[in-house]
Amino acid sequence: MRLGFDSPDGALVCATALAEGGAAHIVVHARTKTDGYKPPAHWEWIPRVQDVVKVPVFANGDIWSVEDWQRCREISGAEDIMLGRGLVARPDLALQIAAARAGEEVVEMTWAQLQPMLRDFWTQSVAQLTERQAPGRLKQWLAMLTRNYPEAVELFTLMRRETDLEQVARLIGMPGRHARSMALQD
Ligand SMILES: Cc1cc2nc3c(=O)[nH]c(=O)nc-3n(C[C@H](O)[C@H](O)[C@H](O)COP(=O)(O)O)c2cc1C
Repeated sequence: MRLGFDSPDGALVCATALAEGGAAHIVVHARTKTDGYKPPAHWEWIPRVQDVVKVPVFANGDIWSVEDWQRCREISGAEDIMLGRGLVARPDLALQIAAARAGEEVVEMTWAQLQPMLRDFWTQSVAQLTERQAPGRLKQWLAMLTRNYPEAVELFTLMRRETDLEQVARLIGMPGRHARSMALQD
């Protein structure tokens, strides 16, 4: 649930209704609908929701890094979280948080380690989308990755106006064959 439509005033009533309706747990994206995605997420509402329901309440909204998770845990008191855009922008964010939570060293995924994922994402995009849509979907992900990887900024600049499937495939290191026919053969 979000906190409400244009005000959080109904948040506790909504949470209670969800629990009474049989929800096994509740994820709170701590913003209203009119807040959209505007920072900050109001994590301080999460303990208020937890106070009125017995089911576990998960914190969600604006967790982009291990530091954000730490602040969110302090403010929300929630042990469990849900990641949205943070995981798209940093594909190993859940692993980083799990390591931090276990008191282990956090080792960040490198750009090189991310390449097989980019290629797999491209293969799936080409197989499932139209030729017009597929490059756009990859660019969308790349744009999110630019938040954390300078290499993504460079690649995004090169790819920005590219619509040809073969050229896109070449830019992510899959040159040679037409990406679509490769995907369809699979
Ligand atoms: C790729 C992606 C897909 C999402 N799909 C849904 C969805 O199907 N239903 C939904 O209610 N929210 C969806 N969301 C919103 C997230 O669940 C989350 O509440 C929101 O993005 C705020 O969290 P964040 O700041 O971690 O992104 C999606 C978010 C992302 C990034």
